[in-house]
Amino acid sequence: MSNQYQNIKLEQHANGVWFLTLNRPQALNALNSQMLNEISSAVRELSEMDYDHAKVLVITGAGEKAFVAGADIKEMSDLNSDQAKSFAEKGQSVFHEFNLLKIPVIAAVNGFTLGGGCELALACDFIIASENAKFGLPEVSLGLIPGFGGTVRLLNAVGIRKAREMTFTGELLTAADAKLCGLVSTVVPLAELIPTVMKKIEMILSKSSVAIGLSKKSINEAADLEIEKALSNEAEIFSSVFESVDSKEGMQAFLEKRKPNFSGKY
Ligand code: CAA
Repeated sequence: MSNQYQNIKLEQHANGVWFLTLNRPQALNALNSQMLNEISSAVRELSEMDYDHAKVLVITGAGEKAFVAGADIKEMSDLNSDQAKSFAEKGQSVFHEFNLLKIPVIAAVNGFTLGGGCELALACDFIIASENAKFGLPEVSLGLIPGFGGTVRLLNAVGIRKAREMTFTGELLTAADAKLCGLVSTVVPLAELIPTVMKKIEMILSKSSVAIGLSKKSINEAADLEIEKALSNEAEIFSSVFESVDSKEGMQAFLEKRKPNFSGKY
């Protein structure tokens, strides 16, 4: 595993469980171009590993103050509109890579999760937050709009009215309020953040990785399709899962009243 990164850390926390830590605590982990490139390389490294070596990815921020306080305002202040478009497209495509990974991507969030940081967390499969987390899209305070997918993914996460309210006011939500509106799945005291993430991972790892990968695909594709097409896509994927060794084992184990022994094989 490469350790060539300056702005992130990619470490194996346990067997096949990877932590990608956004690591510019002096700038509250603000996302600059170099960091986005490094995130992309790290995700590519994981996508090239087989399931035995990469089972889950957790994304977290270094330091206790912030997950990510947004895109790097210093870097953005020098951009012209063409460069701004490239910067937005880079952030969007890097975050889209989380959706394309077959393994679950969990955001373990503490502190400020603002702008591009909130957009990054929204691109993860789900978010577990500490009680001190604060979520928001404050771009309008800078005369900007969200550019890393915020107007799209926040809408899907919290609905159009809450998305408008958060975007127009730039208001920050507490972790508890973020949970109430569906942005966050679980909120725990800071000391419990990583143990809670690890408990969820333990549950995930006891299930069929083939079925998890295919359900992720179906959920992600459903977000872009009309309901009839999404349902027919689900039926196709449901049919393909029946070709897997894991589906035979899972159903057989139920009938034999024993725990399944999933191989992660089709
Ligand atoms: N970009 C660059 N640097 C940032 C940053 C950002 N988004 N957020 C914080 N920093 C830097 C600060 O400049 C400061 O650096 P110096 O010590 O060198 O001055 C350091 O991090 C610590 O920050 P503060 O001193 O401001 O800490 P604070 O506790 O007083 O305030 C905060 C914390 C409320 C999060 C405040 O830092 C803040 O408002 N940050 C900006 C939040 C924001 O507007 N995010 C949206 C960015 S735009 C965007 O993300 C566009 C997009 O969608 C692509």
